Amino acid sequence: EKGTYPHYMLKEIDEQPLVIRNIISKYQDENGEVKLDENIRNAVNAADRIYIIAAGTSYNAGLVGKQLIENIAKKPVETHIASEFLYNMPLISKNPLFIFISQSGETADSRGVLVAVKKLGYPALTITNVPGSTLSREADYTLHTYGGPEIAVASTKAYTAQMAVLSLLAVDSAKAQGFELDFDPIKELSIVATVMETLCDQKEALEKIARDYLSVTRNCFFIGRASDYYVVLEGALKLKEISYIQAEGFAGGELKHGTIALIEKGTPVFALATQEHVNLSIRGNVKEVAARGATPCIISLEGLNFEDDQFVVPKVHEYLTPLVTVIPMQLIAYYAALHRGCDVDKPRNLAKSVTVE
Ligand code: M6R
Repeated sequence: EKGTYPHYMLKEIDEQPLVIRNIISKYQDENGEVKLDENIRNAVNAADRIYIIAAGTSYNAGLVGKQLIENIAKKPVETHIASEFLYNMPLISKNPLFIFISQSGETADSRGVLVAVKKLGYPALTITNVPGSTLSREADYTLHTYGGPEIAVASTKAYTAQMAVLSLLAVDSAKAQGFELDFDPIKELSIVATVMETLCDQKEALEKIARDYLSVTRNCFFIGRASDYYVVLEGALKLKEISYIQAEGFAGGELKHGTIALIEKGTPVFALATQEHVNLSIRGNVKEVAARGATPCIISLEGLNFEDDQFVVPKVHEYLTPLVTVIPMQLIAYYAALHRGCDVDKPRNLAKSVTVE
């Protein structure tokens, strides 16, 4: 039930700290160490390459998952859109592991790939919010995201839960391979939960940003580099599906290769700036669009922020930054849809689980 909340989406955004804490407790052993099921650990470690398959928001989580697994567990990962995978199948490595990410566990596009790879005899793991769902039953292994029911069509807590579980999968695999970790994953995820709370308490500021930037616009852009790029793809998807504003996520450096032609006076451009190595270059992209009349909104990370940034996110471990930076984007999308009188929980033309190909 949504209780005192006007919409499920807002309730589900607010539930994210709790979901992260749930995940921490479910994937911890009695000594406080990250621990996955042994069969899953073995399957991950037997793989010479991981293929992540998913759709929509779950695909966006898979992009971050690729970085987590490659950085922490040092295993090569490819992330693919489920609906395209079979048309343009990459060469498959000798010992692949297929990981399906799906909130509902019912997405037909993902299931199509699962059926095909099972026919080829490859092992499959499903990361889902619904154990017992089709994708969970038909895969060899399941990891539960413990998000609780997600009712709003726009996925929020499932996305952050998926990334949290992917980070633990990466940590578990790193440990099994004998790698020394230079951070405490449980502690860092707990910090994430606390920062999520701080962000959920800043609704007024985010509602104001939505009002100032998105009340009347027809379109808008989201830009970021490196892992911020993956998060802006999610920010744009969130905004377009519930507010019907045409929103595109772009890699900061790619804009000048065509899309910058769309920038007009007053076009809102949200820029995510949370990583030191790209801080100046993404800010350079902001200058480029501002010079062409855009109205930029910079969301940055504490410590890397400049004086005029519109919103600053507290610092968390660099690998886990996407789990917190998405929250302002979710809330901005929520308020933009609300102000424009849209049906936030049930946007037009969309279903919660997409069971047709
Ligand atoms: O249930 P799934 O995670 O497999 O669903 C995949 C997409 O249909 C889903 O993430 C969709 O993009 C959401 N409406 C996004 O908010």
